[in-house]
Amino acid sequence: MSAGFVAIGQPVPRIDGRAKVTGQARYAAEVVVEGLVHGVVVNAAIARGRILAVDDAPARAVHGVLDVLWHGHRSQAPQLAHYFEAGEDFSTVPVKPLVSDSVHYAGQPVALVLAETWEAARYAAALVRVEYEAQAHGTDLPRHHAQGRAPKELDEDTAPPKPRGDADAAFAVAPVQVDAEFHQAVEHHNPMELHASTVIPEAGGTLTIHDKNQGAHGTRKRVAKVFGLHESQLTLLNTFVGGAFGSGLRPQYNLLLAMVGALHLRRPVRVVLTRQQMFTFGHRPEIWQRVRLGAARDGALQALIHEAVGETSRVEDFTEMVTRWSGTLYGCENLRGDYRVLPLDLPTPLDMRAPGAASGLFPLEVAMDELAQALGMDPLALRLANYAERAPSGDKPYSSKKLRECYALAADRFGWSARDPQPRSRREGDELVGWGMASGQWIAEQEEAQARVVWHVDGHVDVETAASDIGTGTVTVLAQVAASALGVRLDDVRVHIADTRLPQAPTEGGSSHVASVGSAVDGACEKLRRKAWQLARSTAASPLADSKLADVEFAGSRLRLRGRDGDGISVQEVLATSGVEELEAHFHLEPDEDEQGRYERAVHSAVFCEVRVDEAMGTVRVTRVVSAVACGRIINELTARSQVLGGIVWGMGQALHEGTLIDHALGRFMTVDLANYHVPVNADIHALEVHFVPEDDRVVSRLGAKGVGEIGGLGVAAAISNAIWHATGRRIRSLPMTPDKVM
Ligand code: MOS
Repeated sequence: MSAGFVAIGQPVPRIDGRAKVTGQARYAAEVVVEGLVHGVVVNAAIARGRILAVDDAPARAVHGVLDVLWHGHRSQAPQLAHYFEAGEDFSTVPVKPLVSDSVHYAGQPVALVLAETWEAARYAAALVRVEYEAQAHGTDLPRHHAQGRAPKELDEDTAPPKPRGDADAAFAVAPVQVDAEFHQAVEHHNPMELHASTVIPEAGGTLTIHDKNQGAHGTRKRVAKVFGLHESQLTLLNTFVGGAFGSGLRPQYNLLLAMVGALHLRRPVRVVLTRQQMFTFGHRPEIWQRVRLGAARDGALQALIHEAVGETSRVEDFTEMVTRWSGTLYGCENLRGDYRVLPLDLPTPLDMRAPGAASGLFPLEVAMDELAQALGMDPLALRLANYAERAPSGDKPYSSKKLRECYALAADRFGWSARDPQPRSRREGDELVGWGMASGQWIAEQEEAQARVVWHVDGHVDVETAASDIGTGTVTVLAQVAASALGVRLDDVRVHIADTRLPQAPTEGGSSHVASVGSAVDGACEKLRRKAWQLARSTAASPLADSKLADVEFAGSRLRLRGRDGDGISVQEVLATSGVEELEAHFHLEPDEDEQGRYERAVHSAVFCEVRVDEAMGTVRVTRVVSAVACGRIINELTARSQVLGGIVWGMGQALHEGTLIDHALGRFMTVDLANYHVPVNADIHALEVHFVPEDDRVVSRLGAKGVGEIGGLGVAAAISNAIWHATGRRIRSLPMTPDKVM
């Protein structure tokens, strides 16, 4: 990385790291605005019913309170009237706050207090008295999963895998059978940054919006639709995002209510959710699953049946990719998947980090371990015996698949061959030691994206695209892509993202941002190289006068002939001599769906772990995790590794800690803060080891990259459950595996 020159693959530290750790980075709730009004939300105290009356008089009497908005408030402001009259249309957002007297779940926003100070708004919000008529509610999935029904709508991804053969008949006669039920509790997104919005009315009727979300354009589109505004009236910025993990895929009610307040008062309004309020919207749904595996004595799978029932709300069907992995991970001729939802009186669930795969791979990969146990076979050997060389669903080739290499590398680094297959075979002190493994798989998608790159006469480069960086390192990776494509120093590249005034970019989700936005930036740079070369050729006394573009390399901030001595020419010289201020190129990436559709596109991982279980205490320590990941070409070794490390920690949370408890009598989430909702802390994390198996996938993206966000967490919970079995002889099929289940 000498002198700021970087190549694809190098471990480049985050260029926004200093701003973030020194507090210079301003998040959505930190934007300084003159005359700011603070909004504090009042949430419903019942799970289902009607609001009979709202007494807002005591709140209005608080000094500094400007207004209290709720469904009975009839404002004359025309924009607000549109919003209120839009009624309960659930097509854009799950529940439009404040539009009616219906309560669909505990925590639903029912009133917004607007005040000159946050303290006044918060105090006044506590004084708003809401009288309810409660109706009977249901929030208990484990008890009622049998009442699940088919979702109203399923797309290709969320639908169960296409059935193959006759799974039930094949299972019935299979010589070796596994039949097990699984449960996973609700998990909540808990990014460090709370969801927050600052909405600023501008002269001329436009609005500037600072919001925490995963897509500036996508969020703006939805907000415009809800409020009947034209998108051009809204400028939306998600400049810095302190984690999101799916919670920012759709506008949350803080944004809708900040909009309501700003349109109503015609003043800037900020709404910040509290940590407790972070538990009043989307979450990973609680899910019940049953997996049946039938196999021949040699381990060949003969039947695979995967059934799942996930919780949803009463107002919309939330679906995710739960059962599809049973159709894509292993070859098996007889397959049946069944995916249902159970509407409950809870907020609509929402995609959370590897949505569906985190839930659906757990039972599949634990059941595989149980099958290995029943067969007396090594769990890794069982996976290899059923390895899918071509995609089993649709019988397509993979665009790239190095899962076999992941297994081999991780097993070797872990020392798997030394494993004694007997459970309870190793005790050290008060602890039983166990080893387990599992596989991970996630999609490799590419989305439409645009980018503009400008090369200035002073040598600096501007990269413009409305991409998001939710903490994953996108901005650094985009700088790295441009710097390496143009052969300029990283410090000479300025990346502008997170603003709807920039070229359109997709929402950051599904681990597809680098393959999408990175490719758009790379495409623009290629155009720029051609432009720079054309100009350089015609420059007087140019060393490139008779060159072909293919013979020119862009390195050391210069254009020079490949393999020749001599310094070539700098772009500054080229532009200055030609009297040109800047060169610019725009690239519109439209994925080639026909070409990509010929392949199964996925990323893979193999996870091996060691646990130490204290049976008397029921505690589990995960003392070692080795993960090997094949996810296409790695653009930045450092940020990619960090993604996988974070994913492993996330998987440990899913396995051992995270679970939002529900009080079914009240129909309410109970563990709504970070004291009661447990996530792994430093003391829980021991040795984590990440290896990347080299891949280069030009079907998924021109950069060769697939995606590296979500794969890191997959397989981890199953590997831990399998290791707990190996340590103790006990199968735990319910997440999180808390001490009460382990003891
Ligand atoms: Mo992710 S759940 O695609 O933000």
